[in-house]
Amino acid sequence: MRGKQVLLTGGTGGLGLGVTPTVVACGAQVTVPYRSESGVARLKERMSAADFDRIRFVKANLNDESVVEKLVNDLGRVDVLIHLIGGFSMGRTDEFSFDDWKASFDLNLNTTFLVCKHCLKAMRRHGYGRIVTIGSRGAVQPGAQLAAYCASKAGVVALTQAIAQETKEMDITANVVLPSVIDTPANREAMGEAQASQWVKAESLAQTICFLASDAAKDIRGAAVPVYGAI
Ligand SMILES: NC(=O)c1ccc[n+]([C@@H]2O[C@H](COP(=O)([O-])OP(=O)(O)OC[C@H]3O[C@@H](n4cnc5c(N)ncnc54)[C@H](OP(=O)(O)O)[C@@H]3O)[C@@H](O)[C@H]2O)c1
Repeated sequence: MRGKQVLLTGGTGGLGLGVTPTVVACGAQVTVPYRSESGVARLKERMSAADFDRIRFVKANLNDESVVEKLVNDLGRVDVLIHLIGGFSMGRTDEFSFDDWKASFDLNLNTTFLVCKHCLKAMRRHGYGRIVTIGSRGAVQPGAQLAAYCASKAGVVALTQAIAQETKEMDITANVVLPSVIDTPANREAMGEAQASQWVKAESLAQTICFLASDAAKDIRGAAVPVYGAI
């Protein structure tokens, strides 16, 4: 990814703590949209000042299409999109509010659609692109109390695979990774640390993501890659 223009959404989140330093270390020019300053400050603590200063941060809520369009247009060229934005929700279906259902689709699927849509326009103009999205094991193995999360992540898989079909004639690929549980500060806080050694390290998932985002992965299209660790 040396010299590539990378749009890395969710780069200040728990998974981003592993992915963002790895992408910067590849020599890419990295833009990270963010909403909360605290996420940026946490990432800064984990990186050398020189590497951190190479990241371009843009405050942007990516649920808003005009914001996404401006972000991508300002970049001009997007060689690689790594879209980490997403989040978890739980609750029995008969007790789940419609507002929470829609919020899960906004967070997981609708941001993915908006960012992919506008990055694809830029990628088609330049005839090159790598898209990596984040599904979840739940997208292919749905669990109880996880309908909104699993359904919205299944949508991310379908969207990514549809894009892979649409871009076959160009050097543009789209693939999705399916993590189980990632070793993030939030998961350690929510579930304790007893099982953490079995979870997927963010730095390890970053390696899979960076391979799919590289020139070398040009023949991999529409893959849904399980990254389950030891769970
Ligand atoms: N953690 C796990 O065990 C696990 C397992 C399977 C799949 N995944 C998936 O992996 C991805 C990363 O998970 P994570 O644990 O890193 O989540 P996270 O810590 O909650 O981070 C989410 C990131 O997305 C950003 N974000 C959310 N909504 C946004 C919006 N509308 N506009 C701009 N930025 C927005 C957040 O920025 P702000 O904080 O600034 O809002 C944050 O940087 C997600 O797609 C998640 O579903 C996670």
